Amino acid sequence: MENNLLLKVEELNVEYLLTDYKVDAVKNVSFYVRKGECVALVGESGSGKSTVAMAIMGLLPPYAKISAKEILFDGKDILKADEKFMSEIRGRDVTVIFQDPISYLNPIISVGEQISEALKAHNPKISDKEAQAQAIELLKKVRIADPERVLKMYPFQLSGGMAQRVFIAMAISANPKLLIADEPTTALDLTIQAQILKLLNNLRKEYNLSIILITHDLSLTSYLADRIYVMYNGQIVEEDAAEGIFTNPVHPYTKMLITSSQAIYQGEVKKLKDKIASLTEKEENSKVGQRCNFLGKCKNSAQECEKEPPLIEYDGLKKVRCWKL
Ligand SMILES: Nc1ncnc2c1ncn2[C@@H]1O[C@H](COP(=O)(O)OP(=O)(O)OP(=O)(O)O)[C@@H](O)[C@H]1O
Ligand SMILES: [Mg+2]
Repeated sequence: MENNLLLKVEELNVEYLLTDYKVDAVKNVSFYVRKGECVALVGESGSGKSTVAMAIMGLLPPYAKISAKEILFDGKDILKADEKFMSEIRGRDVTVIFQDPISYLNPIISVGEQISEALKAHNPKISDKEAQAQAIELLKKVRIADPERVLKMYPFQLSGGMAQRVFIAMAISANPKLLIADEPTTALDLTIQAQILKLLNNLRKEYNLSIILITHDLSLTSYLADRIYVMYNGQIVEEDAAEGIFTNPVHPYTKMLITSSQAIYQGEVKKLKDKIASLTEKEENSKVGQRCNFLGKCKNSAQECEKEPPLIEYDGLKKVRCWKL
């Protein structure tokens, strides 16, 4: 394993086995994250992003069937690890923040006690006083003004942005190596979104933290991501350095995402959302077989697209899943 590598996922497949059918949620996905690097998984709803995250955390439901060549975290194959090892890794080496932090905070316990509990979970010997002092430090780290007062507050008293900051404070309390941020700013307005992303970037630098940023909104990744994996319908369809995705998108789906991001700046969000919503509906009704996933929506499709394209190297660093390059 390359010295600087923290996570390497090779040929991950996840199926949800439901009573009368199965969902191929993740298909042959390979990616890696270096130490201190931010990698983004970008794609529309249902493309399999959260399933990838849950697979890494070992948190898939029992009816999910997972297979992979390997999932190496910090040199250890977590696919072969037992539950005890996984529960040690979770919350210590790998932590996750979600879109909706308030629902993950306990409503009847003060912010201070919740952070103290998180601290004690990994360091049972620390005293209440010490935990309180560390909690204050953590709140300062996530740029919360007046931390002593916030410690006494309850989750319902926090704004969305504050709640996310508290959640991030808990997530970094054990000094993790990897933070998975699954749509961390989706519920927040634009200014707060930018603040939270900036905070994540500062923490990354300060702790040499690796981040997997999961989002359906490509424009958000421009703040933070070093490399981007574009997912569509369970597959990676394009991967490249962030710069390469933004300046030289090759896969038609990536191009569509770029166009929609530009439209966000042009204030044409609604038109685009409607367009994307209508596309999604068509996709759900169509059968996905051995042909290209994107066939049916693609303007460049041709005969060969009846066969599924492999993810092939293109122009140096980039990889693209498309026959028509
Ligand atoms: N617990 C589950 N049981 C059954 N199917 C699931 C489950 N979780 C996800 N799926 C299905 O797996 C596919 C991938 O879903 P996933 O939640 O990973 O996508 P996502 O990219 O995170 O979407 P979103 O942007 O909406 O969060 C979808 O078809 C979804 O319906
Ligand atoms: Mg998701």
